[in-house]
Amino acid sequence: MLCYLNGSLTDKDQTNIRIENRGFTFADGLFEVIRIIDGVPLFLESHYNRMKESAIFFRIPFSYNLQECYRQSVELIEKNGLYDGELYWELTRGDDAFREHGFREEHQGTFIILTIPLRHINPDNWEKGVSLTLYPDLRHQLCEHKTINLLANCMAKNFAYSQGAYDSMMFRQEKDGRKYITEGGSSTYFLVKDDVIATPEIDNILPGITRKKVISLCKDLQIPLIQRRVYVNEIKHAQEIFLASTVSKVMPVKKIGDLVYPVDGKITRTLMNAFAQLIETQISEVNQMIKEGM
Ligand code: PDD
Repeated sequence: MLCYLNGSLTDKDQTNIRIENRGFTFADGLFEVIRIIDGVPLFLESHYNRMKESAIFFRIPFSYNLQECYRQSVELIEKNGLYDGELYWELTRGDDAFREHGFREEHQGTFIILTIPLRHINPDNWEKGVSLTLYPDLRHQLCEHKTINLLANCMAKNFAYSQGAYDSMMFRQEKDGRKYITEGGSSTYFLVKDDVIATPEIDNILPGITRKKVISLCKDLQIPLIQRRVYVNEIKHAQEIFLASTVSKVMPVKKIGDLVYPVDGKITRTLMNAFAQLIETQISEVNQMIKEGM
């Protein structure tokens, strides 16, 4: 199995990444998960832009342009023969033998690209829906960036798994004690009430790529959507709830604790179909681009 390490194609098991890499010692880095379908890395430009913006924010050296990332990703997919799976990008600030907290100009970023087999998701989830749990959002103030510091997300997801659920809805508390739901451990959520969709605004949550696509599909389809704080007590009265993420795509929710939702809700189904269509369009557009030499 091959990977890309700092712009060179390398045997994945022969890479020479130092233990003193700041990704390892400080979780000083960013990542992206990109879905590969039919050999095409979906919405790669959006993933690239998100990583680039965060790299600028944290001053992490990221010297590859969009074309280089496209070319390396497509080549790796072909060489590894992984046509249905996940592409994993990780960018760290690179090696730091002194493990010194300060950022220094001489840091050279470490950038890896891996292909990873698709994680196991029961295909029934899209038909029958998934269960969710509630879990406190234990994260920091940097959740608008896709950092590799994911311990709190792992806690939330492991709690869900321990309850036989798919993910946890993470919540924070207002000063007056009211709890609001931020996002899933690895997904965004949408709640439908009175045929209007509500999803949290980007307020210390990840600006999800799938979230953005769903919002724009809602605009196209004239489905009313409001970005606002959504409170835990609102899930009692929700008509439909669905998740969105790179690997979950649009996925219906059937249960949160004792609360039950219809999994064939009309808005969820409309958006599942529209998103599937968007993926088809993206596959043909990227294939055309590859044919034309990118
Ligand atoms: N997770 N919120 C969180 C906390 C996430 O980790 C993710 C993605 C999302 C959805 O974002 P996007 O639509 O850009 O995938 C929202 C990835 C898939 C993961 O960690 O595996």
